[in-house]
Amino acid sequence: MSNSIIQQQSGGPEVLQWTAVDVPAPGPGEVTLRHTAIGVNFIDIYVRKGAYPMMTLPGTPGMEAAGLVEAVGPGVTGLTVGQRVAYVMTAPGAYSERRNVPAERMVPLPDDITDQDAAALMLKGMTAERLLHKTAPAQAGDTVLIHAAAGGVGLLLCAWARAIGCTVIGTVGSAAKADLARGAGAHHVIDSGTEDVAARVMEITGGKGADKIYDGVGKDTFEISLACIARFGHLVSFGNASGAVPPVNIALLAPKCIALSRPQVFPYIADRANLLATAANLFDAMRKRIITAQIHHTYPLAQAAQAHDDLEQRRTTGQILLLA
Ligand SMILES: NC(=O)c1ccc[n+]([C@@H]2O[C@H](COP(=O)([O-])OP(=O)(O)OC[C@H]3O[C@@H](n4cnc5c(N)ncnc54)[C@H](OP(=O)(O)O)[C@@H]3O)[C@@H](O)[C@H]2O)c1
Repeated sequence: MSNSIIQQQSGGPEVLQWTAVDVPAPGPGEVTLRHTAIGVNFIDIYVRKGAYPMMTLPGTPGMEAAGLVEAVGPGVTGLTVGQRVAYVMTAPGAYSERRNVPAERMVPLPDDITDQDAAALMLKGMTAERLLHKTAPAQAGDTVLIHAAAGGVGLLLCAWARAIGCTVIGTVGSAAKADLARGAGAHHVIDSGTEDVAARVMEITGGKGADKIYDGVGKDTFEISLACIARFGHLVSFGNASGAVPPVNIALLAPKCIALSRPQVFPYIADRANLLATAANLFDAMRKRIITAQIHHTYPLAQAAQAHDDLEQRRTTGQILLLA
């Protein structure tokens, strides 16, 4: 017998219930994992609410975790009982003590990468890596604007963009979060609660605007981003923390001749070669301390509902873990 967070229906954090479950022996191509640390991501909130139809109900949320291989199913090669692995998958189910997972999605953990750091950064770190190196490659000398700069992905983007040689402008929702964004690498921090973000970006950039904008906030920031992007800039809308961006009239992109992307990390890591290559880039950046995990909040797995409430109410900074 094992325990998982199970939701019977879509809804608020209260639908996340600690529930005893049976975990069968792993099937062909599967391993049983005993999770040690589970990453909490904003996408888990969209899934919990039913906004992203990625989970059948009743179901267990969670897209990333680290743990130990406890049993190996028929046909699995390259993984052994006791091995440490981490993963990010489109199939939810990580909010569990134990779980059967496809072996081909597992990334073996090097000795110098801890379970907690891996669980904190598999999804957020690979997202930051792909956004900055593939979706809209940030170049030395670029001015980049990063919304929610003190958040889980935001702190990583600030640090990585600064290391690339960009001038980094971050927005935060309160003064208390500004020091964190600065500490991570932001040269300039704008408090979106009290300041006019677009006006401040134009002031900081001498009227030019930001060359690249990485926007995970969505509805509340999309028009602000359009207003303060530079000519020939690239606006990357990669999340909806404040709600979905309404349908866009592409003619709005013409006056400044800008590019607009709406990426997801999953297609970039859909095949095993790209998954392992992106994970290797991530681990390399962690080793070089270009980025570091900023695990500011941990909760027992059974208290997943509290973690969701805190994330949704903007009470968190950095990465959030559930400990199993
Ligand atoms: N496309 C992808 O593949 C991908 C992958 C990972 C994450 N994401 C997206 O990246 C974004 C950040 O994810 P995360 O897990 O790191 O979360 P997070 O940034 O730690 O938390 C979200 C932050 O968004 C800001 N925010 C602004 N308006 C908000 C509102 N109305 N409600 C809630 N938050 C609001 C808050 O920061 P302030 O208070 O400082 O404004 C909040 O802390 C999310 O939109 C997520 O979906 C996308």
